[in-house]
Amino acid sequence: MSERPITFFFRGSQQQVENVTPTMTVLQFLREYIQTGKTRQTATKEGCAEGDCGACTVVIGELVNDNLQLRSVNACIQFLPTLDGKALFTVEDLCTLLPKKDGALHPVQQAMVDMHGSQCGFCTPSFIMSLWAM
Ligand code: FES
Repeated sequence: MSERPITFFFRGSQQQVENVTPTMTVLQFLREYIQTGKTRQTATKEGCAEGDCGACTVVIGELVNDNLQLRSVNACIQFLPTLDGKALFTVEDLCTLLPKKDGALHPVQQAMVDMHGSQCGFCTPSFIMSLWAM
């Protein structure tokens, strides 16, 4: 178990997580640990669970020289304690990042729809997050 809480920005506020094993992955945190309301955060998918397929892609935000830098990572091999002092974004966050919250898709999501970019849809959230991070 971690000796102090892991603190990071998540879903619009500071999140503190205590008493988790240091080897808990960000993917485990999202899909099995945290519940927002009564819902688990399952939009981020598990495919290979070993860092090869990218189905679990999320975005980590970090201040570097006072500038926010975003980078996409594979949540299945990213340990939760590495989020300390950073920000975690998943596909569920994109609609909340828009100026108006009328249910409109984020432009990246809308582009996927307009260009028929989704195939079976399983890993579409990961493509969206990789594009958004760029
Ligand atoms: S589930 Fe395949 S890279 Fe994470």
